[in-house]
Amino acid sequence: MQAKRAAGRHAADLVASGARLGLGTGSTVYFALERLAERVREEGLDLVGVPTSVQTEKEAERLGLRLTTLDREPRLDLTIDGADEVDSERRLIKGGGGALLREKVVAAASEELVVIVELSKVVDRLGTTFRLPVEVVPFACTPVSGRLKDLGCEPQVRGADGEPSVTDNGNWILDCTFPEGIADPLGLEVELDRIPGVVECGLFIGLAGRIVIGHDDGSVEVR
Ligand code: A5P
Repeated sequence: MQAKRAAGRHAADLVASGARLGLGTGSTVYFALERLAERVREEGLDLVGVPTSVQTEKEAERLGLRLTTLDREPRLDLTIDGADEVDSERRLIKGGGGALLREKVVAAASEELVVIVELSKVVDRLGTTFRLPVEVVPFACTPVSGRLKDLGCEPQVRGADGEPSVTDNGNWILDCTFPEGIADPLGLEVELDRIPGVVECGLFIGLAGRIVIGHDDGSVEVR
């Protein structure tokens, strides 16, 4: 927890007054939201944020942060978001919290995506410690699963007790296991985008700016 807290708070301290922010999703982002709320109270920091999930919207509202939408602010200065894996080329797997679609839209609308992770999320090859989430239209789930298997992975519908989890966008998620990890993330993203019924995948390539890595002793490094 100390590592996530350190990374989240560090990223919140990078925010300048007047910022239009993308607010990611997850437990690390929560620490950033808390710190942003502190800075609003203590320093009068002026900011407005676009949440990437219903969960973040509720947390931000509870903390008293001012929210907006991409309709009102289509260009954002900075997005702060977590990740499930990061490689040495700053490519990410995201979507552990199921918010990958809005997270990618918001990241793409931002000047910079600042990624906040603990050290254990840094990997040599994507897909080795975490399954790749792929958001699918429920209607297309079975044929999409077949196409995913052809790409060399084992997809599994996310859910509990046989009930699929439904995303904020009304879709389902297929968590895909790649036995050897993902050899060519960009090539895979292109292939996934071509499958009808795939809404988005959790590969974030060419989107991340600074990576803020938290350590267990509460220190951070920025790559
Ligand atoms: C949410 O959909 C994900 O992309 C999160 O950013 C990711 O799962 C990181 O979550 P934690 O900060 O809770 O580890």
